[in-house]
Amino acid sequence: MPFPFDIAATDGRARTGVLKTARGEIRTPAFMPVGTAATVKALTVDQVAQTGADILLGNTYHLMLRPGPERMERLGGLHKFMRWDRPILTDSGGFQVMSLSGISKLTEEAVTFSSHIDGSKHVLTPERSIEIQADRLGADISMQLDQCVSWPAERPAAQAAMELSIRWGARSKAAFGTRETQALFGIQQGSTFEDLRRQSSEQLLEIGFDGYAIGGLAVGEGHAAMCEVLDYAPEMLPVDRPRYLMGVGKPVDLVEAVARGVDMFDCVLPTRAGRHGQAWTWDGPLNLKNARFAEDQDPLDATLNCPASSTYSKAYLHHLIRADEILGKVLLTWHNLAFYQALTAAMREAIAAGRFEAFRSDFHARHVSNSK
Ligand code: GUN
Repeated sequence: MPFPFDIAATDGRARTGVLKTARGEIRTPAFMPVGTAATVKALTVDQVAQTGADILLGNTYHLMLRPGPERMERLGGLHKFMRWDRPILTDSGGFQVMSLSGISKLTEEAVTFSSHIDGSKHVLTPERSIEIQADRLGADISMQLDQCVSWPAERPAAQAAMELSIRWGARSKAAFGTRETQALFGIQQGSTFEDLRRQSSEQLLEIGFDGYAIGGLAVGEGHAAMCEVLDYAPEMLPVDRPRYLMGVGKPVDLVEAVARGVDMFDCVLPTRAGRHGQAWTWDGPLNLKNARFAEDQDPLDATLNCPASSTYSKAYLHHLIRADEILGKVLLTWHNLAFYQALTAAMREAIAAGRFEAFRSDFHARHVSNSK
């Protein structure tokens, strides 16, 4: 294995540990801010680092369209290009093709799609996705190419996508080979069918990956249905390798997934919601557009080690968002990422101290009860 994963403590099914990569340590449970187009929207990388993020997520789909993988390689790779020297995980492209572009053709060999930017045609095979991620962009962790079905899915469609994802996983692994300073993760699929997810896990394990993701969730099924899948899905994956729940989620989703044995997350929610005036806090989400903040002189959270959270008044943030000022988007993005990092840090501490259940019920009482 290129990256040792040391689990320091477990509490129930929750775990805390450290994934040691060549570019630095990832403390788990970990939240990866999304840096789709070689930028975490609205923030400098120094601001992102200041929130406590150990790793960023980048997207093959966006970067292959613009600025293009070969240009990126000539410019020294994604880390140098965006001035982030810590670990980067890249998603393989299949999911973004499904959600952003018109798929024009899906075959055994490849997915063919048209760009959401200019309509141009592109082809992504498992081999090309690995070449872009690992060789051109220089990702520390690459993801296999997979097919994710939308929800609700009929069983035959979910089974076909899961089986294609296994064959693409094997091709991704063959293209990746074995590397000393880069890792490859497989992706479990199977929608909400337990036996399909078990079959997916068993076949991924036979191929052998450095870490395992749970894909195909947060696609419209809702929190309760997602939790039902997470009651069994993480335990199907090896206990000694990192488990990554893709595209999730709200703070309560993170807490409930950690309780079920998940180690890593990514989601656009904190950054996207920040740009739209929503702040996530221990007391639930706040809409800063709301008139009740017009003369509220308190900061969002005086205890967070983030200038956006602790030094600007809610009245000022309300004004910036109402006036559609750029700084409003910057400050709320910054605060939300700091809050997500504080949330994962609090979970790590609670698991290490053997008081995760108390943390979870306090979180529900304080945060979730205010989220309705
Ligand atoms: N992001 C969110 N869900 C998924 C998924 O199922 N597959 C991939 N590749 N990326 C995702």
